[in-house]
Amino acid sequence: AARKVDEGDPRDFVGKMERASQNKRCAMFYGSQTGTAEEYALRLAKEAKSRFGLSSLVCDPEEYEFNNLDQVPEDKAVFFVVATYGEGEPTDNAQPLLEFLMDDGVEFSQGGNRLENLNYVVFGLGNKTYTYYNEIARKIDKRLEELGARRIGERGEGDDDKSMEEDYLGWKDGMWEAFAARLGVEEGGAGDVADFVVTEVAAHPADKVYHGELSPRALLASASGTTTPVGSYDAKNPYPAPVLASKELFSVGGDRNCVHIEFDITGSGMTYQHGDHVGIWPSNPDVEVDRMLSVLGLDGDDRRHAIVSIESLDPALAKVPFPTPATYEAIFRHYLDISAIASRQTIALLARFAPSEEAREKLTLWGTNREVYAAEVDGPALKLAEVLQAAVGDSLHPPFSSTVWPIPFDRIVSSVPRLQPRYYSISSSAKLHPSAIHVTAVVLKYQSAASPAHKHEPRWVFGLSTNFILNVKNASSGANTPVEGQIGPSTLGSPETVTMSKVPSYRLAGPRGHYVKQNVYKVPIHVRRSTFRLPTSPKVPVIMIGPGTGVAPFRGFVQERVALARKAIEKNGADALKDWAPMYLFYGCRKADEDFLYRDEWPKYESELGGKFNMSVAFSRESRKADGSKVYVQDLVWDMRAELAPLILEKRAYIYICGDAKNMSKAVEDRLMKMLAEAKGGSPEVEGAKELKLLKDRNRLMTDVWS
Ligand code: 2AM
Repeated sequence: AARKVDEGDPRDFVGKMERASQNKRCAMFYGSQTGTAEEYALRLAKEAKSRFGLSSLVCDPEEYEFNNLDQVPEDKAVFFVVATYGEGEPTDNAQPLLEFLMDDGVEFSQGGNRLENLNYVVFGLGNKTYTYYNEIARKIDKRLEELGARRIGERGEGDDDKSMEEDYLGWKDGMWEAFAARLGVEEGGAGDVADFVVTEVAAHPADKVYHGELSPRALLASASGTTTPVGSYDAKNPYPAPVLASKELFSVGGDRNCVHIEFDITGSGMTYQHGDHVGIWPSNPDVEVDRMLSVLGLDGDDRRHAIVSIESLDPALAKVPFPTPATYEAIFRHYLDISAIASRQTIALLARFAPSEEAREKLTLWGTNREVYAAEVDGPALKLAEVLQAAVGDSLHPPFSSTVWPIPFDRIVSSVPRLQPRYYSISSSAKLHPSAIHVTAVVLKYQSAASPAHKHEPRWVFGLSTNFILNVKNASSGANTPVEGQIGPSTLGSPETVTMSKVPSYRLAGPRGHYVKQNVYKVPIHVRRSTFRLPTSPKVPVIMIGPGTGVAPFRGFVQERVALARKAIEKNGADALKDWAPMYLFYGCRKADEDFLYRDEWPKYESELGGKFNMSVAFSRESRKADGSKVYVQDLVWDMRAELAPLILEKRAYIYICGDAKNMSKAVEDRLMKMLAEAKGGSPEVEGAKELKLLKDRNRLMTDVWS
């Protein structure tokens, strides 16, 4: 039976909309895992305010009931801004919403199952490299339509792989037009309104100022001098983990490198399993902190350490995205993502604060013209402060003495997204390493397109988090002296050196990377559970395909079985593994003596697993196929199809793919289809695809891929 939502029930969003001091006309629900969907929901809410002067409620669907969707009055609208994960799954916080809506016997609070009054908007966040593109947004849309609800405008769909921002911008104006018509409202609302009040505080107890701590608990801990706050850790409360060990797995010409780093979780109460992900919270490099402070005129010593307190004018619409009071410097170093390529929306928003008419026109053009933006900002990978420097003709290179942009600080806070953790597949097994989490990361560095703002030369772009990890590694393993070009002063190079490829430096001391004893640094981390797991029984065969750093989780998988094997042998003697099924690992790299990850470890695992572990490696830049093309993992899988197909079709083998989503995982799946079609009879496109889908549906083909 339908449950009537009581008056004042905190889970009743309709009541909340009506009771709020400003009657809320929209409720924006976000299905968000890493915060992106939430950000878009907030943007929509802000735009409802600035366009029409309408207030909204921005809500986590997990915190509300949906059985009163039938009570939403016709002059209101409900927005669903939902991400789709992996194989067409909802985010954790949207799970209950989906379950409720999709139920065949769905019943609303007034006893019916129709939603004729409901006006709704859908924007989905998906990734085209995955099979089920925007599945969740489509599902919700289709279902609401079935129930009689009325969508406003078109369903929006953003592709995280390529064009999320463009997709959003291309969709929203049409939607708002339809919105205005449906709700009978007119443009010209409150205009551009501030979200936050920023106050500089003259005096504040030093131990209550945030310098990079991620939570009140962490602040307390660092104020009392303890190094480890107690309690449980999660995405809202990461654990400052000491670095146990770190090393370079390979370094090719000092230009292409891969870091192995181990975090100590002893005494933290944190646990993990093979296949889980670890979130690492990076900071921004010195050069970007200095650039931003300089552009805002906050680079003087007294200014950068000034303490600011930030309050939200409408906490339902805009949460202060980081803990305050904090210093300007801490805000830019630890809390705001100033290292990302500047978005078109932010550029357009800040145009009105330009120090000159010419700069204002430039920003307006970059912020509104898609082609110009692509050529001047996106291609050359300009960060926000670089855009501001470029627009007034300032040098992009340190030392900075930039033209000051009079941008109110609250606008910076509302337009620059919060710095988010980056996720890595854990490369160890908790059975073998219960108190350590291993991470394997290729250090990201690439050359941008030629930059008009930079003498039309390409520039080096450094991945934020992997270069942070490299800095931690260098600081942890090196002597106490800076490694030249890595830990020392700013290292971006001079404008002439197109080949500049030095790694930017990060400050690692301070409350985040606390210097507990010589050369031991701390990095805030938390574990995110995954379903990428081995079958429980070692009698089930396993086929793992992971070239490059895609091998990371499989090192954990193999270690897991090694730990099991040790136990089994201890208990039942040398014969214990006799009826174990084989584990196959297909790995690929360029050359055996160049970038072969954990090369010395695999033979040891092989011998411990006594023939139950079988590894094949494709060296893509060593040997060639007869037709001259490269040898890749999918070729090795294909060569071994006579052995593998029966394992899959008869022995219920589990298949795992990890690594590049764009090309590799597709190519491997194609080859699997071909192989299964050959074994079963039929064509790859029909029978092969059907077998593959069956495997996926039964969770016997799992992927952990990224783009
Ligand atoms: P390549 O760089 O020589 O092209 C790890 O990056 C390994 O994956 C490298 O050997 C790389 O080869 C290979 N690789 C690149 N593209 C691939 C694809 N589409 N399928 C499988 N492996 C690929």
